[in-house]
Amino acid sequence: MHVAIIMDGNGRWAQKRGLERSAGHRAGARVVRRIVEAAARDERVDMLTLYAFSSDNWSRPSAEVETLMRLFNRYLRSEVARAVENGVRIEIIGRRDRLGDSLVDLIEQTENMTAAGQRLTLRLAVDYSARDAILRAALATADDQPPESADRTQRAEWFAQRIAAATNAVDDGSCVDLLIRTGGEKRLSDFLLWECAYAELLFVDESWPDFDEQGFEAALGEFQRRTRRFGGLPDAVSG
Ligand code: FPP
Repeated sequence: MHVAIIMDGNGRWAQKRGLERSAGHRAGARVVRRIVEAAARDERVDMLTLYAFSSDNWSRPSAEVETLMRLFNRYLRSEVARAVENGVRIEIIGRRDRLGDSLVDLIEQTENMTAAGQRLTLRLAVDYSARDAILRAALATADDQPPESADRTQRAEWFAQRIAAATNAVDDGSCVDLLIRTGGEKRLSDFLLWECAYAELLFVDESWPDFDEQGFEAALGEFQRRTRRFGGLPDAVSG
């Protein structure tokens, strides 16, 4: 299954403790490590997409943007060996043209070094906007049409590949099964809008730095208790 997480609440977590917002992001980065390991251990999860930096986050104070960029840099450097060992393939989705050259080089190296990972695909969304991805895919396909014979599902798959290409994703991004948002807010914030068409949504009040393996397992348990219908009727009614 594909789990996506909006890791919200770092700033509030820090402010509540009288700390700088950057301390919340650093604490958040430690939680990223733990949740990635938990997802890699869990046989149900084969893709995990984390919203690390939205295209709208560029409007934050430059010191906060720099802290976040430093944390991504440090994360990629420190995790690559462990990712290879744990069979984790790392991909970064989003725009790359506004990232620093050294971060882009590091992203490419990390993607190459972890490309053989089979256990979990970890996708970090950096300078990511779902609307921008959908719009760029639509503009790029003006002269490129799906086969005449394609049905609605095949046309959607065809377009999903174009969206993936617009975000530099290697995989087609497959549909999200479970979207978790921490931090108490209940919105999608321009994250994976196409891919979440039939996602189960789970909003948890804990801030991201307080989220842990137990919370992640509880979220997967909640997902398994839900009945997914994809617009149809439950078996008991339709059968
Ligand atoms: C939202 O919290 C979180 C972010 C904008 C950044 C997410 C980044 C991390 C969890 C750390 C680094 C990530 C990696 C992959 C190493 P917020 O700042 O909007 O919190 P607030 O709503 O309380 O202000």
